[in-house]
Formats: sequence, structure tokens, C-alpha cells
Amino acid sequence: MIEISQTPELRRWLGDERRAGHRIAFVPTMGALHEGHLTLVDEARRRADLVVMSIFVNPLQFAPQEDLSRYPRDLARDRALASGRGVDLLFVPSVETMYPPGSDTRVVPGPASERWEGAVRPGHFAGVLTVVTKLFHLVAPDLACFGQKDIQQFVLIRKMVRDLDLPIELVMVPTARDADGLALSSRNAYLSAAERRTALALPAALDAAVAAWKGGERSGKRLEVIVGERLARSEGIVADYIAVVEPEGLTPAGTAGAGTIIAIAARVGTTRLIDNVILG
Ligand code: PAF
Repeated sequence: MIEISQTPELRRWLGDERRAGHRIAFVPTMGALHEGHLTLVDEARRRADLVVMSIFVNPLQFAPQEDLSRYPRDLARDRALASGRGVDLLFVPSVETMYPPGSDTRVVPGPASERWEGAVRPGHFAGVLTVVTKLFHLVAPDLACFGQKDIQQFVLIRKMVRDLDLPIELVMVPTARDADGLALSSRNAYLSAAERRTALALPAALDAAVAAWKGGERSGKRLEVIVGERLARSEGIVADYIAVVEPEGLTPAGTAGAGTIIAIAARVGTTRLIDNVILG
């Protein structure tokens, strides 16, 4: 695996690969890699000749109350995991490389960025779309892989790619889960053993909604109540939102059909977790 931190070298290296006719897949990350990121790498490998991963903790996507300095960073570990899983090129730019002094142009997301995660994390998605646009321009991949767990992020990136005519195929990779069903997340490391057990209410609540939908329940409101009731049965969990939404604009779905998304954000202790399911 080759590691690059400067953009001229990145462009040179990828330019050579492109001229050689190689198909390039891209997996953008903020590091703290876990099996979820590595399944994105597996999918990227299946679809391309070359896998590029970026590791960049993007300051722009942290809301003012979030602690950027607390974000877990372990480049040596990430490097070993990425190379062990077959990443060909690791791009690790500095903050100065991505945002040199005076860089103040931003990508402004549409209204779908203001709901759900956007409501609790003001400015978050403008930060995500800005960095993803920059990374897309630097890497110029044929395709890019993102996880289903951050489904609002995926929906907004998909919209941006369409709205701004970016020539990149997007692949949404299903959420990787532990054997007990908990969605993998860098934040799971903050959970105590008891909190981790409590957190299983998230996938259990989604399962309850899916079972109800399969049993014929089509009311978005009713599905929301089913998720809420299941979460309320577990002590120590506080829901931030339960959203039953249509897949394009993420507006509440009156009637839940195939493709409707059910998304949850909840706090277990001081840790905020998200999870979702796509019906059908
Ligand atoms: O999903 C993430 O890890 C980040 O939001 C991303 C897409 C790498 C942008 O910083």
C-alpha cells in the first residue's frame, strides 16, 4: 500500500493509473477504522482495479458543541487495517492541505440536510458535502462506496452527485453488524458493557417495525410508534428522533412502501447512536 499526503503526488499517481486504464474505487473515511469501513473496501475491491481510501478528520463537519479533539485517531492501526484488507493507496492529507488559509467556499446542501441528523448537528452536512466534493475532485474515482448506516449522508451525497453532474457512481453498502445485531460504529467503543446491552434496543426496535410492515402495517405513524414503544421498554435509552421517511427528500412517509427508510438516533448514556433499515 502506498501512502500519500500531498495533492500533486496524489494526482500524478492516480493519473498514471487512469492512463493505464485502471478503474478506481474510493472509500472516504475519518479513520478509527472498524469492520464496517473494511466491508466498504471489500465492495470497492469487487468493483474496481484499484482501491483508494482517504483518512481525514474533517473539522468542517463537527458542530460547535462536538469535540473535534476527542475524535479517536490511530493512524498506525488504521494503516495496518487498510493495507491488510487490500487498499492500494491511502490518502492522508493534513487540515492545511484540505483547507489552506483563506479557503472559505462551501457546498450548500438542500432542505433534506436540515432534518434529523442535520437538526441536531447544525452545519454538519455542509461540512460533509464540502469535503466529499473536494475529495471527489482530488481522487476523481469511477465509483465511491459509503455505508448505509449514515443513510442521510448517503442520500445527500447522491443528491449532490446528481445536482452537480459529478461523473461518479455511488455504491451504498449495507450496515455491518456485530453478531448480536448492533450496527458497527467507532462510537460503540464509548459504551460500557451494560450500555452496550441497552443499545441492542436499536436493532430490536427496527426489527419490530420490519416485522409489523411485513405483517401488513403501512402507516408511517404507526411504525414510528412501534419503534418508540420498543425503545421505551429499555431503560437508559433516550430517542433523539424516530423517522419513517421517503428515500429521496427524507420527508415523513404517510404510507410506508418498499424503499421507505426507518431511521433512529438515540442516546445511551452519553453516547449517541444511529441505525436504520430500508423496507423491502
Ligand atoms: O462518513 C464519514 O466517515 C465522513 O462523513 C466522510 C464521508 C468521510 C466525510 O468526512
